Amino acid sequence: MNIILLGPPGAGKGTQAKILVEDRGMVQLSTGDMLRAAKTSGTEMGNKVATVMDAGQLVTDEIVIGLIAEKLDDDAAGGFIFDGFPRTLAQADALGSLLNSKGASLDYVIEMQVDDEVLVSRITARSTCGSCGEGYNDLSKPIPANGACSKCGGTDFNRRADDNEDSLKTRLMAYYKDTSPLIGYYYAKGMLTSVDGLTEIAQVESSISKVLG
Ligand code: AP5
Ligand code: MG
Repeated sequence: MNIILLGPPGAGKGTQAKILVEDRGMVQLSTGDMLRAAKTSGTEMGNKVATVMDAGQLVTDEIVIGLIAEKLDDDAAGGFIFDGFPRTLAQADALGSLLNSKGASLDYVIEMQVDDEVLVSRITARSTCGSCGEGYNDLSKPIPANGACSKCGGTDFNRRADDNEDSLKTRLMAYYKDTSPLIGYYYAKGMLTSVDGLTEIAQVESSISKVLG
């Protein structure tokens, strides 16, 4: 089963993708994570996209389609979760063609619906353990009182360079201008299901589970 998690920054795509990986053995393909890894490792591509990402703008279709194309041959018996991809109509067309060429298809596109106000507060409260990548949120999942990661004991926590109000505004604009047309695109193909992303994480998980069966 191959699915897309579609939604604005902070909708909870990454959070739910990780749950699906644990529960169903699916493989998460997050273009945001791939691009951040390229940035950190200082590859030519990473250096090229760093400023664009930090400002909250979209990286070119060519780069992200290339990243996804490289991953589609990976072993994924449980299927792929596309997290943050596609983000433009050109990317959606390219994904359809790539899957077709492998004899595969998309099964579900899940739109996670949230309010802009909640997005700002979620994102400005988000942090990640610098050692193991465990996610925290000052509002819903605070760093333990002893200041150590509950998973690995690490004490360094990072905030994303694009998790500030200016970049977030640009990210939201990019979502409404370039990505939200995908809602109509997949609706017309009969693939779209929308879930309420404003409920608690476990409730969103259960709504998605109902869709996937
Ligand atoms: P990307 O990494 O994809 O970022 P994004 O889409 O802005 O989304 P986020 O990762 O910020 O949010 P999320 O929906 O994953 O939410 P999360 O689960 O973390 O992309 C970053 C950049 O890379 C882009 O701006 C662009 O420059 C580039 N890029 C990436 N893909 C691209 C593409 N295809 N084309 C072009 N450019 C691309 O949750 C957020 C917080 O809320 C967390 O702290 C979480 O704990 C909390 N939370 C989650 N769910 C709930 C809930 N139900 N209740 C309460 N809190 C919750
Ligand atoms: Mg994410």
